[in-house]
Amino acid sequence: MINEKLQAAFNDQINKELYSEYLYLAMKIFFVENDLTGFVNWFDVQVQEEHAHAMGMFDYLGERGGSVKLEAIDKPVFNGKTPVEIFEEVLKHEEYVTSRINALLDVAEETKDRAAIIFLNWYLKEQVEEEASVGGVLAKLKLIGDDKKALLMLDKDLATRVFNPPVIG
Ligand code: FEO
Repeated sequence: MINEKLQAAFNDQINKELYSEYLYLAMKIFFVENDLTGFVNWFDVQVQEEHAHAMGMFDYLGERGGSVKLEAIDKPVFNGKTPVEIFEEVLKHEEYVTSRINALLDVAEETKDRAAIIFLNWYLKEQVEEEASVGGVLAKLKLIGDDKKALLMLDKDLATRVFNPPVIG
């Protein structure tokens, strides 16, 4: 049976992963409206990844005899009006998620739940990849600047991103 404090922290993180899914869905609209279909694909994959992250914790709580409590998902908020501004916000959001996973690990350590620590290490590694992937797109967008041709080349590149269902834990 999972400790109650740890269970609450997991439930909070499930909500944050679902918020991430919702946020990226909202950001995708900008790219749909600007006919950047490769970026749309990138966000489609991102949305699926966030859903998988939430469901990984959802299933884990069940396995551990815990109880999932779903709360309201906040309205997605971002202010970016260009691809580079939006990706700056994606990176900021992923850095925030990394800090939340670390906080969740702190609770797992505090409650001496070694199984949860091992499980959460997967999320920590995933965050390193997430930040690197987003940071890579952002760096290219900064190099591209106002060059529309180069932006279309990056769009073509992002069209190749594929969702691989993660094996969590
Ligand atoms: Fe689930 Fe992008 O962190």
